[in-house]
Amino acid sequence: MPADIENIYALIAGDMDRVNACIRDRLHSEVVLINQIGHYIINSGGKRLRPVLHLLCARALAYDGTQHIDIAAIIEFIHTATLLHDDVVDASELRRGQETANNVWGNEASVLVGDFLYSRAFQMMVDVGSMRVMDILAEATNTIAEGEVRQLLNVHDPDTTEERYLEVIRGKTAKLFESAARLAAVLAGRPGAEEAALAAFGIHLGTAFQLVDDVLDYSASAADTGKNVGDDLAEGKPTLPLIHALARGTPGQRALLRRAIETGGRNAIDDVLAAIESTGALDYTARFAREEAARAREALAAVPASPYKDALLDLTEFAVARNY
Ligand code: IPE
Ligand code: IPE
Ligand code: MG
Ligand code: MG
Repeated sequence: MPADIENIYALIAGDMDRVNACIRDRLHSEVVLINQIGHYIINSGGKRLRPVLHLLCARALAYDGTQHIDIAAIIEFIHTATLLHDDVVDASELRRGQETANNVWGNEASVLVGDFLYSRAFQMMVDVGSMRVMDILAEATNTIAEGEVRQLLNVHDPDTTEERYLEVIRGKTAKLFESAARLAAVLAGRPGAEEAALAAFGIHLGTAFQLVDDVLDYSASAADTGKNVGDDLAEGKPTLPLIHALARGTPGQRALLRRAIETGGRNAIDDVLAAIESTGALDYTARFAREEAARAREALAAVPASPYKDALLDLTEFAVARNY
């Protein structure tokens, strides 16, 4: 792992230990299969970025209670539920360097344990006991679901526009980052303008994060990301690298890319990669991500200087420089 992310983790190590203890505690069920799948995915080495984001924001705003621990755990549960569902929808076989739960236990078990994690997250929210918190997280989960359904409608559609793509990633990914950051301001009782600034930070960071994920799907190695590369093309998923290559390619490349999106599969991967390369589509997507990261940093202007704020700024660098 790059040193900068290690420094970020170190800053909130104590909080993160408490979050992990909370996760372990609340993962428990009397149903053995739930424990098996739950532990399998939760202990498989995710980056815990959304909890990190929430904890850093809470500390940066000088929150001095304990509910940031519960909220960080809730957010990771929601994230984990979406991953269980997403891997079924995407027919993915590798996550966090190990076989996906759907590959080991089947689609049915993955969907249902995802539902367990979602609903456990809502039980935990009730324990937090704040209507504001409930409101934000209920809206977030609803928007994530909308984002995933929007994406489903774009699959195999070569006419998907950049705008429609952005709508998808703001929903399926950036919304949870937004909530993680916003909720810190809510807990700390900050005024509306500051809450909005934190929310904007989260949205832009999350958007940058997903843009880079979509670059890595074409450019990284499974050894680094712990996921199979080329999954997006295999599913006929029109992410920004494909959308941009389609807009900029030669007539021959455009025909090839349209067909690749319509049919999916991995057969055309070499020609698709060549088209992506010659149109500069990965550079374009990475540049877009850097712009989003810069917007995220701007949004933090009103937050007072502290090591936690510095770590939040570092997080925007990590989101765009990462290779996993
Ligand atoms: C994966 O998120 C899903 C996306 C939004 C791209 P992460 O890359 O944060 O996954 P883990 O939790 O670290 O495995
Ligand atoms: C992110 O999209 C999925 C969610 C936010 C649930 P991807 O499908 O690109 O995520 P990975 O690549 O499978 O982690
Ligand atoms: Mg996926
Ligand atoms: Mg991906």
